Amino acid sequence: MSLIVGLTGGIATGKSTVAQFFKEENIPVIETDQIAKSVMQKGSAIYQSVVEHFGEEVLLTNLEINRKLLGQMIFEDPKKRELLNQLVHPAVRTVMQTEIEKYRLEGKKLIVADVPLLFEAGFNHEMDVTLVVWTDESTQLKRLMSRDEIDKALASMKIKAQLSLAEKKSKADYSLDNSHSILTTKKAFLEILNQLKERAGWEF
Ligand SMILES: Nc1ncnc2c1ncn2[C@@H]1O[C@H](COP(=O)(O)OP(=O)(O)O)[C@@H](O)[C@H]1O
Ligand SMILES: [Mg+2]
Repeated sequence: MSLIVGLTGGIATGKSTVAQFFKEENIPVIETDQIAKSVMQKGSAIYQSVVEHFGEEVLLTNLEINRKLLGQMIFEDPKKRELLNQLVHPAVRTVMQTEIEKYRLEGKKLIVADVPLLFEAGFNHEMDVTLVVWTDESTQLKRLMSRDEIDKALASMKIKAQLSLAEKKSKADYSLDNSHSILTTKKAFLEILNQLKERAGWEF
């Protein structure tokens, strides 16, 4: 039996940072952002429908989809966001399930899926347990501004466009506070990891 862990959080709260912690413990992590990127590659069925619905102006000169521009378009328009999600999520789900199955067959006791829209897209129903990485608001804002090199106004708009961290925390089985130093987070992570291992029947 494998335990499937859905890892989520808000923008820039530390999902990738915690995903890296899992990898350092030799626990496989499925990155759904990467899957979304790969299913939209030039020539795929989803590529075709994205171009059909969003127009050729979403293409880069090498004819790949300009994901940054697409991101801006859907950020400003909830209807377009919904449409893009409808086009992309089913394929992401299928690839994710295939990867989970592969790791299951390899006998991995713990399998992590990093899913930014875990609750919003209903991917939480495919997980055995969910873990949300959160920070306080000002830390999230500061880290987002510095990582993406954007100003405060845009950063707070991006944060506000998401399901609130409070709501994600209330829905998740485990929550990990990443508001402080990386070492503090690592310590708290290791405690949660032990609980997950116990739940997964990990032999220590
Ligand atoms: N505990 C921490 N202390 C300082 N910086 C951090 C900490 N955790 C994450 N960061 C930084 O904050 C930014 C957002 O973290 P990241 O893991 O990329 O978030 P997410 O994947 O959730 O968007 C990155 O630049 C990362 O290096
Ligand atoms: Mg990330």
